[in-house]
Amino acid sequence: MSQGPTVVVAGVGRFGALHARVWREAGARVVGLVDTDPGRLAEVAAAHRVAQTDRDLAALLARQPADAVVVASDEASHADLAVTALEAGSHAFVEKPLALSTVDAQRIADTAAARGRQVVAGHISRFAAPMARMRARIAGGAVGTLCVLRLRRDFSRAWYASFGDRVHPVWESCIHDIDLAISFTGRPVRRVVATRSAAAGEAAPSVVSALLEFDGGVIATIESAWLVPAGAPGTLDDGPLALDGAIVGEAEALGLGGVIKQRLVSDALVEWTGSGAQVPDLSLWPEEDGVVGGALRREVGYAVDVFTGRRAPDVMPLREACWGVATAEAIVSSLDTGDPVRVTAPA
Ligand SMILES: NC(=O)c1ccc[n+]([C@@H]2O[C@H](COP(=O)([O-])OP(=O)(O)OC[C@H]3O[C@@H](n4cnc5c(N)ncnc54)[C@H](O)[C@@H]3O)[C@@H](O)[C@H]2O)c1
Repeated sequence: MSQGPTVVVAGVGRFGALHARVWREAGARVVGLVDTDPGRLAEVAAAHRVAQTDRDLAALLARQPADAVVVASDEASHADLAVTALEAGSHAFVEKPLALSTVDAQRIADTAAARGRQVVAGHISRFAAPMARMRARIAGGAVGTLCVLRLRRDFSRAWYASFGDRVHPVWESCIHDIDLAISFTGRPVRRVVATRSAAAGEAAPSVVSALLEFDGGVIATIESAWLVPAGAPGTLDDGPLALDGAIVGEAEALGLGGVIKQRLVSDALVEWTGSGAQVPDLSLWPEEDGVVGGALRREVGYAVDVFTGRRAPDVMPLREACWGVATAEAIVSSLDTGDPVRVTAPA
């Protein structure tokens, strides 16, 4: 099919507005925008010249059908918006996390199956070129029998107050690494145990450490701390998201025959200027020749191909996103009780 899909973006905050741009740059036609905040909705609709807007997704789709809906709203609304999209006959791209419970993830999967529609979960890290290579090298046997995965992701302290505790941070930051670990093993998690540390007054912990045991025996450690201080060099300051602050982290795979490791954000490019130090990220959503490239562009291009029937959902199968939800739910439960939790991943 040479024509790109028609798309409605539901939730046009920081990331939803970027999605509207990237989907358009990937050949989609953005035919509608939805947001519960009328001021924000009007601002983004004017900037992107989209005529059809509404505060309610079902109402918008009733008068403006679309091939696909991009769900980029607050995490708690993802499942309901995805189901609304699927019931209206659209495919759904759902930002991470797919849902906040296994019950809701299953509801999405059941509706997609019943309606014959595709769902792509927005696990962007799978589409970052170094991570995609790491996955392919592990699958190709470069480390021999995979034994251990170590994944660490730290975010700016300031982001915690801004959006880190909007949902439990396991759903906000650890979910990326849970998904990467699933993509490296191709298996569901069977058991988790997790521990936490919270600064005074935090409703949810800004420091999480989890141990995952995969079906087949691989062990993964996942750590996340929202403790990067304001003085650290920024990584996303002047990109299209303009998120002042830093993501730092590492991914490491150890097998009987080799080791692969990488930094989450490369430190190859270093800039010291009068306004401070930067280590600009060039893998997630860099601007290249006036358009957004990197992992986000590859992810959206993949979703366009899946939604237009040009390829199978092989990179980000819905089943693996559901495994991720089940694992995150088990980690939160283990953090609450301090006990190991068995994970019953959907088949
Ligand atoms: N993949 C990534 O690297 C990445 C990066 C940033 C954000 N995200 C994800 O994108 C999503 C949005 O994050 P953000 O930082 O843009 O948040 P944001 O707060 O800037 O924007 C969320 C928007 O959703 C709107 N909204 C809330 N409930 C809604 C509903 N029921 N219907 C329609 N609109 C609704 C809000 O009014 C707001 O404008 C989150 O799921 C987040 O985890 C992913």
